[in-house]
Order: sequence, then C-alpha cells, then structure tokens
Amino acid sequence: MTAKLPQIKISLTYETMGKKAAHEIAELLKQKPHAVIGLATGTTPLSMYDELRRIHREEGLDFSKATFFNLDEYVGLSGEHPQSYRYFMQEHLFNGLGVDDSQINIPNGMAKDLRQECEEYEEKIRKAGGIDLQVLGIGGNGHIGFNEPGTPFDLRTHVVTLTPETRKANSRFFNGDPEQVPAFAITMGPATIMNAKKVLLLANGQGKMNAVFEALKGSTSPQLPASVLQLHPDATFYLDRTAAKDFDKYFIPATHKITPMPVIR
Ligand code: PGA
Repeated sequence: MTAKLPQIKISLTYETMGKKAAHEIAELLKQKPHAVIGLATGTTPLSMYDELRRIHREEGLDFSKATFFNLDEYVGLSGEHPQSYRYFMQEHLFNGLGVDDSQINIPNGMAKDLRQECEEYEEKIRKAGGIDLQVLGIGGNGHIGFNEPGTPFDLRTHVVTLTPETRKANSRFFNGDPEQVPAFAITMGPATIMNAKKVLLLANGQGKMNAVFEALKGSTSPQLPASVLQLHPDATFYLDRTAAKDFDKYFIPATHKITPMPVIR
C-alpha cells in the first residue's frame, strides 16, 4: 500500500468532531450496507455514537446488515460487567441502532485460552472480508486500542499487560481505584488496525494534544503507537481545536489536508 499523510479535520467543538466522524460512517453504510466497521470505547467516541443513534432514529439509516468488530476488551470481565467494553458498546451504541448480537464481535475476555481467542478473532475479521473502517481513540501516551508504547507494529490481536498509566487513566470507571482495573486485556494489534481499509482517529481535549502532535510529526516509532498511522494509505484525524492547538504553525495545510470544520448545530 502507498502511504499518504493522514488528513487532519479540526472542529471547533467536541460535538462537531463527533458529528463529522459519524457522517463519514453513515456515508460508508449508505454506499455499502454490509460494511465491516471497527469500533472503539472510551469517552472520545461518545459524541459520534450520539450522532449515529440520531441518524438511525431520525433518518432511518439501516445498520442491520453491517458487521462490527471492537478493538479490545478487558481480560476477566464478562459482557454483563458494567465496565466491560461489551456492556459499554451495548449501552452507548448497539441498543440505539437495533443491531443484533450476531452482528457484534468483541474479544471474549473470559475465554479459557486467550491466545486461541486472539487467533480466532483475527480469523473472524478475515472471514468477514476485513475491516472497511476502523475508529480509534488515542491515549495520552499515544496508545491505540491497548497497544502501549513499545508494541511492535507487526503484532496482530494479542494479550497485553496494561501499564500503570493506563490503569490509572481508566480507574475513573472503577471507583477511582487503579487496582480494580483489570491488569490484562485483549486488543487488536497495530497490524490488525493497519489492515483496515480506512482509519478514523478521534481526539479531543488538551490532554491528547501532545500525543496527537507526536503521532503526526516526524518519524514513526513503536514508542508512539499512533504514529504507525503515518504509514496508512487512508487515515483521517478528527480533532477538536484543543487537541489540535497550534497545528497550523507546524503542519502545512496543503500536505496534511488540514480542514477546519464549520460548527454543526
Ligand atoms: P478516552 O480513551 O476516549 O477515554 O480518552 C481513549 C484511549 O485511551 O484510547
């Protein structure tokens, strides 16, 4: 594949960022109702999920033929656990889109043989024809999925040990106690993500500014996992203006196709 610099789309607000990204998914589904869509958890995609639910409810966009694959899941939490990513997706998106269980794929963190679960997950993606569009958030340390700094770019779905940094960041969902955050997770690897035909990375807020900047500038390095996207042929960064502060000073709009987005109400 021929790499091309990621496009950067900057929105004034978090809500607009989510709406613009949702519209890209809606467009894909209109053209390809059987699309295979990779999704992410976290607070970042919530405004996008709100908009997708609205589009389904008010505009009748049909999600019933699509297939969904999530990036990651904690090891040791069942889908009924309120902090599992399976539960999160049901609450924030799938219930509102009327999708059936058979359309949903999320790694099983309760699998007896985790390595086999990872291999089977890759196989399911292959059998579905590969991911058409993958949504990503980014960690303050540049992680994508649960691929922490240092993850080799050629890894596919694998089991990871979460860093203290990530467990601390996610402890806000576990009574503020990092010890309650599972120590392991299953995640698509950088190579799985890079195989997606299109990638949308969403980031908002000042806490993401440095990671986004580092991911886009200079060389690629496993120390900054999101920097692998510089090698992707079709990646777009949807940012709010705080995550993209001063970008115009460092990036040339023509080469990075920086597009300031109008506010959508
Ligand atoms: P967040 O997490 O959306 O909750 O900020 C993103 C991530 O860590 O990948």
